[in-house]
Amino acid sequence: MKTTVSDKRPPFLDSYRSRAETELTLRLSQVSGAGRLQEAMTYSVLGGGKRIRPALCMASARAMGEPEDRAVLPGCAIELIHAYSLIHDDLPAMDDDDLRRGRATTHIAFDEATAILAGDALQALAFEWLSEAPGLTDPVRLRMIRELAVASGHRGMVGGQAIDLASVGQTLTLERLELMHRCKTGALIEVSVRLGVLTANRLDDNRIESLHAYARALGLAFQVQDDLLDVEGDTQTLGKTQGADAARCKPTYPALLGIAGSREHLAGLLRTALSHLDGFGEEADALRAMADFVVARSH
Ligand code: IPE
Ligand code: IPE
Ligand code: MG
Ligand code: MG
Ligand code: MG
Repeated sequence: MKTTVSDKRPPFLDSYRSRAETELTLRLSQVSGAGRLQEAMTYSVLGGGKRIRPALCMASARAMGEPEDRAVLPGCAIELIHAYSLIHDDLPAMDDDDLRRGRATTHIAFDEATAILAGDALQALAFEWLSEAPGLTDPVRLRMIRELAVASGHRGMVGGQAIDLASVGQTLTLERLELMHRCKTGALIEVSVRLGVLTANRLDDNRIESLHAYARALGLAFQVQDDLLDVEGDTQTLGKTQGADAARCKPTYPALLGIAGSREHLAGLLRTALSHLDGFGEEADALRAMADFVVARSH
């Protein structure tokens, strides 16, 4: 029997996921008076999703010996940026996809203008949530706002998306491809760990650099697996159209290194990520399991 992703899911991931779902559902229900815009925002955020970013944020707080509670809202703020990035990524002007999480993409379910605005509104809301995250001091909130702004913008996710769009049909060098992946996907994965670490409000702790290094390797691994799934997955399991990268001549790891080469690279990134957790005890078990999950996931 084929193993499904839920079989491999570490139990704490389900609990982190449900904490994120509860928070997202409650807070989005409070976005009132925005009518169709609110519907589109809610549709895009609440329609499935593995919630890997909030889970990483909570797991990173735990690795620092902190309660996960203070990482819930920061993790959800990152999830809003992620949801906005997916809405815009799927637009006709970008990847032109009509399927996401097994349902119509936002611009198909609503319309293009509403999809663009829903993404814009989610981006702004993410920073509003960070500014009011409970249990944190104002300097920590400010630091988080800055980190998320950098990870989301031209030096992070948006910058990576720009390289992606400018690279269609080209064969990139491995170095350029890595930069693109580190920006477009790695930056939000990295910042998930960084905000979790920031909940501890410590600056001079030598565990911090190890967690950041773990996050860098995992962020890249995440997009290498995404590229592999585009080749090897199936549309139903993925919930998005298989083969979309090749159809659009996107520069990807499998296109550059082949399947076997990409798998090898992914295994190396997993080893690197895990090695940065060597100095930690069981407080980092959630992060270890997250790394295994990210590379073994089937959607
Ligand atoms: C998909 O991210 C888009 C990329 C950054 C590669 P996820 O695989 O985390 O998507 P969801 O949120 O679980 O649908
Ligand atoms: C998306 O990369 C990265 C962002 C949304 C920022 P992809 O274009 O590969 O993501 P999917 O495959 O559509 O989810
Ligand atoms: Mg894309
Ligand atoms: Mg896409
Ligand atoms: Mg992809």
